[in-house]
Amino acid sequence: MASRAVYPGSFDPITYGHLDIIQRGSRVFDELLVVVADNPAKKPLFSMVERVDIMKGLTKKLKNVKIDLCEGLLVDYVRSKKANIILRGIRSFSDFEYEFQMALANRAISADIETVFIMTSEKYSYISSRLIKEAAGFGADISKFVPESVRGPLMKRIGVRK
Ligand code: PNS
Repeated sequence: MASRAVYPGSFDPITYGHLDIIQRGSRVFDELLVVVADNPAKKPLFSMVERVDIMKGLTKKLKNVKIDLCEGLLVDYVRSKKANIILRGIRSFSDFEYEFQMALANRAISADIETVFIMTSEKYSYISSRLIKEAAGFGADISKFVPESVRGPLMKRIGVRK
């Protein structure tokens, strides 16, 4: 049976760290659905549709990767796509507690869906969308952390604090 995994996240914006997980996930699973999901704890800079558009452009060469969005409960989305795997990236030990809690909560709600973790390349282990937005706001060069199709719209949206 072909494996189909869902890789959810805020992706606000997508970084080289996320792209690294997408590439790794596309080698592990037959199909990978990368899904912009709603994290009520965050106030996003980009709309879900903007994030989806940017991510489609960046992943079009990966034939088994699709980009989508999910506005409700993640496990309902996973089931609606006939998938049974949630993929999440881990950068460091400090990610573990949050990921552990989310994986167990998702499993309690839906016992047939497993969460699988892939380690991010050490090159990207310290980057996060939040840090990149903060650095960009203070005028830092963020080209090491995000592709040009993210940097342009991000700099326009965020402005630079003088
Ligand atoms: O990139 P993030 O912000 O760490 O991703 C978190 C996300 C979006 C995957 C999580 O908040 C989520 O799954 N949201 C969808 C709504 C949902 O199902 N919430 C319960 C999760 S236990």
